[in-house]
Amino acid sequence: MRCQLRHAGEGGQPIDGDRGPRDTAAVGDGTSAPPRGSPAWWDERYAGAELLWSAGPNLFAVEEAEPLPPGSALDLACGEGRNTVWLAECGWDATGVDFSPVALDRARAAADRRGVDVRFVEADVFAWRPERAYDLVLLAYLQVSRPLRRQALTLGAAATAPGGSLLVVAHDVRNLVDGTGGPQYRELLWTPDEVTRPGFTAARAGTSARPVDDATAWDTVVRLVRNR
Ligand SMILES: C[S@@+](CC[C@H](N)C(=O)[O-])C[C@H]1O[C@@H](n2cnc3c(N)ncnc32)[C@H](O)[C@@H]1O
Repeated sequence: MRCQLRHAGEGGQPIDGDRGPRDTAAVGDGTSAPPRGSPAWWDERYAGAELLWSAGPNLFAVEEAEPLPPGSALDLACGEGRNTVWLAECGWDATGVDFSPVALDRARAAADRRGVDVRFVEADVFAWRPERAYDLVLLAYLQVSRPLRRQALTLGAAATAPGGSLLVVAHDVRNLVDGTGGPQYRELLWTPDEVTRPGFTAARAGTSARPVDDATAWDTVVRLVRNR
């Protein structure tokens, strides 16, 4: 079954990764705001917008997942479920995990509206343990520090079935120089060379341009395939 790109955003384009407001709350900024990156902080961001990300799937999730035969998919830090729901529409048996209840309510509503079954789990991805291996594990725009990124890669790799793909799409460090959007903190930005795992082979690895209105956002895009 081929993916039909039926819900790729208003203009028919699979658009963005992070079109939300610039991050303004700094860690330990002395305000009463929840700590940056906490579930409460994400809930506030989601609650402050009707839809924080695009309705349609991310450009690179589409580029990389669309040619793959549908199987089981795990979307770690799935947010409002734009990629999870799209994968389900493409025939994947899709599971999304996120720790923001506000985002997950939206994700469930999107799945209902679009008539697909998706399993959404409210959990901290660093505490949650999958019960099975998946043919596709997606980590899209996880904004955490480098040690946590390493941990996320370890978790994602462990959840990837032999022959399956671990796909990382993330705001790239190049955005600090000539890109747009995403966190403006160096420590939250990814580089393709940090996305490696023993026992995996890269099918794609690089920094890719994502058009956003009249500007360009730069994303780390790496798809690792687990050796059989
Ligand atoms: C920039 S959003 C990306 C959402 C989604 N992947 C997408 O591309 O639309 C980052 C998401 O990571 C989630 N998140 C961050 N840290 C997490 C953690 N430790 N456990 C679960 N979710 C987390 C946030 O709640 C938020 O929904």
